[in-house]
Amino acid sequence: MHLNGKVAVVTGSGRGLGLAYAKALAAAGAAVVVNDVDAEATAAAVKEIEEAGGRAVAETAEVGGSEAAEALVARAVDAFGRLDVMVTNAGVLRDRVLWKMTDDDFDTVVRVHLRGTFTCVRAAVRRMREQGRGGRVVVAGSPAGQRGNFGQTNYAAAKAGIAAMVRTWAMELARDGITANAVIPVAATAMTRTVPAFAPYVEALERHGTPLPDALRKGEGFGTPEDVAPLAVFLASDAAAGITGQCIGIGGDKLALWSHPQESAVAYADGGWSAEAIAAAWPVSVGRAPETCGIPAPRTARGASR
Ligand SMILES: NC(=O)c1ccc[n+]([C@@H]2O[C@H](COP(=O)([O-])OP(=O)(O)OC[C@H]3O[C@@H](n4cnc5c(N)ncnc54)[C@H](O)[C@@H]3O)[C@@H](O)[C@H]2O)c1
Repeated sequence: MHLNGKVAVVTGSGRGLGLAYAKALAAAGAAVVVNDVDAEATAAAVKEIEEAGGRAVAETAEVGGSEAAEALVARAVDAFGRLDVMVTNAGVLRDRVLWKMTDDDFDTVVRVHLRGTFTCVRAAVRRMREQGRGGRVVVAGSPAGQRGNFGQTNYAAAKAGIAAMVRTWAMELARDGITANAVIPVAATAMTRTVPAFAPYVEALERHGTPLPDALRKGEGFGTPEDVAPLAVFLASDAAAGITGQCIGIGGDKLALWSHPQESAVAYADGGWSAEAIAAAWPVSVGRAPETCGIPAPRTARGASR
């Protein structure tokens, strides 16, 4: 699968998943604008891509506001003449339970993930519509946004919002031939290597190159950033022209399609519902099998729950 002639921006691509996306897109033939808030990481990523024979330029900027988004699109156009693919991946965590979460914890996470995705995709889509040759939007969702997660009010809200934006953009951008999809990744990065159930395996992988066991790669869909990157390449390619509005899970050996929220049980009462009627109906109709919440706790290779 090749992306020759295509130009991509990848936010937060100085390390982790973003770096894997940038390297894979470049290896497939795309010219890439590498972005990160960390200038050293940005420069190192460009160097690595160039040394591997790819084309890349650096644009160090803090994703969130419109100026950074416009600078990224301008950099793509100045350096490579156009923009075909916007991958919004930059992210931070500020985990705390609700009652301890500060305004700053909330705003920081929402600004980078949700606002950063909105501003970067808006700037990219304006350019893609001008070019008139379609385009690709690939955003970063998370299992936390799909299911909720303990200690992640800010992050789950931002990621659920990103999934909602993708569904909306699939409708709005269809006529212009621009697709919008969310990758729902799971991979060993700075963000996840401290999860207790995964930590010893990630350490063994990093220190000794010990491959992650099947129980993680298949059971948990947990692997390396390089396991996730092929999905970004596929979604950026002509082969994915018909795919839009999807939340696609990938990690380790696993590829998955996430369902979208929809009514799972309905009941009707002539003339509408009273509180008493809801209370009576709940256990025997719509409330009979309530939805579950949260990401299921990982199991280690030994089968123990976290
Ligand atoms: N690793 C996983 O298992 C996992 C799971 C679900 C979702 N994600 C999502 O994937 C994306 C990448 O995560 P990761 O695990 O590679 O994390 P990471 O921490 O390894 O990398 C994130 C990168 O984004 C950069 N960054 C942070 N704020 C930025 C900003 N404002 N502007 C530009 N760059 C910024 C960081 O400097 C870093 O290089 C995130 O959106 C994350 O929420 C990751």
